[in-house]
Amino acid sequence: MKLNIAQNEQKISQLVADEIENLIKRKPDAVLGLATGSTPIPVYQELIRRHQAGRIDFSQVRTFNLDEYYGLDRSHDQSYYQFMQTHLFSHINIQEDNIHIPSGQPADVEAYCREYEAEMERAGGVDLQLLGIGHNGHIGFNEPAKELHPGTHLVRLKPTTIEANARFFTSIEQVPTQAITMGMQNILKAKRILLLATGRDKAEIIHKLIHTGITTDIPASFLKLHDNVGIFVDEEAGSLVASCATS
Ligand code: GLP
Repeated sequence: MKLNIAQNEQKISQLVADEIENLIKRKPDAVLGLATGSTPIPVYQELIRRHQAGRIDFSQVRTFNLDEYYGLDRSHDQSYYQFMQTHLFSHINIQEDNIHIPSGQPADVEAYCREYEAEMERAGGVDLQLLGIGHNGHIGFNEPAKELHPGTHLVRLKPTTIEANARFFTSIEQVPTQAITMGMQNILKAKRILLLATGRDKAEIIHKLIHTGITTDIPASFLKLHDNVGIFVDEEAGSLVASCATS
C-alpha cells in the first residue's frame, strides 16, 4: 500500500482523476469499480469537469458499483443507483447498459450475487477500483466480523454504520439494515485499487489501517495483500500518520 497525503480533497480528486483519465485514454473500454459515500464526490465532480472539457470520453467505459442498500428500489432517492446518477452518470456520456449497480431487491439473492460476479468476470475484471472507508474500517459494506466473505453477498449493517449513514435519511429508522455488497475477493481482484479518506473523523481508522496487520476487525487491512494499492488521504485524515508522505 502506498500512502499519499495530499493537501486537501481537491488535490486528491485531481490525482485520482489523473489516474482514471490516463486509464481511459489507454483503454477506452476500461472497467471502473465505483464507490458511494461523500468521499468520492469531489473525484466524480472532477471527472465531470474533464468530460465537459472534452478530455474524457466515457462512451465505452464499463462500471461496477460496490454495493446497494437491500430493500430499496433503485428509484428511492437514497439508493446508491440514484446517488450515482446524481453525482456522476447523468453528467457524462456513459451508456446505461455499461452501468452495473447491485439491485437492492433481487428475487433470489444468492443467484443474483453469483450473476453480478459473473458479469464482472465477463467484462474482464475491474481495472481500477475506487474505495472509501467506513469509520470502522469497512470497505464496500464488508463490515468488521469474525469472518469476511469473499464473494458478493447480503450483509447486515453494523449499528455504527447505520448511524453514520442516517444523515442521508429523514430518520435513523429509515436506514436499511442490510445491503448487497461485493466481497473481499471481488475487491481484491481489481488490477489497481485506490482508497480515499478525507476529514479529521477518518484519522483514527487511517492510523489503525497503516499501523496494524491484517485483521478481519479492519476489513480494509486486507488491501495489504494486494500489490497495487494507492491510499489517498488529505492532511486531516493523515494527521495521525507521520511518515511516507508524498505530494
Ligand atoms: C458507506 C459505503 C462505503 C463508503 C463508506 C464511507 O457505508 N458503503 O462504500 O466508503 O460509507 O462513506 P463516506 O465517504 O461518506 O465517509
